[in-house]
Amino acid sequence: MHVAIIMDGNGRWARARRRPREWGHRQGAKAIRAIVESAPDVGIDVLTLYAFSADNWKRPDAEVRGLLRLFRRYLRAETPSMVEDGVRLQVIGRRDRLPADLVRAIRTSEEATRHGSRITLRLAVDYSARDAMVRVARVAAESGTVVDEASFAELMGQILNTDDAVPDVDLLIRSGGEQRLSDFLLWECAYAELYFTSRMWPDFRPEDLREAMRVFAARDRRFGMVAEAV
Ligand code: IPE
Ligand code: IPE
Ligand code: MG
Repeated sequence: MHVAIIMDGNGRWARARRRPREWGHRQGAKAIRAIVESAPDVGIDVLTLYAFSADNWKRPDAEVRGLLRLFRRYLRAETPSMVEDGVRLQVIGRRDRLPADLVRAIRTSEEATRHGSRITLRLAVDYSARDAMVRVARVAAESGTVVDEASFAELMGQILNTDDAVPDVDLLIRSGGEQRLSDFLLWECAYAELYFTSRMWPDFRPEDLREAMRVFAARDRRFGMVAEAV
């Protein structure tokens, strides 16, 4: 079971409390641990979290710098508990535009957690689904590979810095009230169930995840077939 979450609403949550957006991001980061810890208990094997999109570079400099600092701090602070909880961390997205010390922190955390077998946590940083697909096409063309769906997913995994082929998403959750994909996992979400909640990310709790899973369980997935054939 692969669940992906667009963690949206930090800025509006902070503004509603007359605090700076950066404070909203810090509170949003704090909300992550409880979600990751509760995820295996509700049957989630792979959890992908959208932390920073390729388009988020267009935000004011101070906010971008604050977010990069927050990632670094997050990785340092959370790696020991991830190891303890059996979390295998993979950071997906581009790395060539990230500061060198953040890239080092990512490698250190991935290395330290590589034997985690309870859950795979994929953190999307400088991620764009379109960019990933374009790069797969480019690599395939340059090497003269004729891709099929399986090899496309393999190549995409390599491009996103994981060893495995990208897994299909079963359930996509977006907090913060918007109902859009914002360039997240476009290939992997071909048959994903979509769940939108007005809860702002800093307020998102394991109970909200359980509610999303309850709604998901009641959905009728047909994958283009008729119900009896599924
Ligand atoms: C999501 O919260 C976090 C990131 C995009 C990094 P936002 O910062 O987009 O919060 P809103 O949408 O402005 O409330
Ligand atoms: C998507 O949220 C990216 C993350 C949550 C990291 P945005 O807030 O950047 O998306 P838009 O601008 O509302 O589409
Ligand atoms: Mg937003």
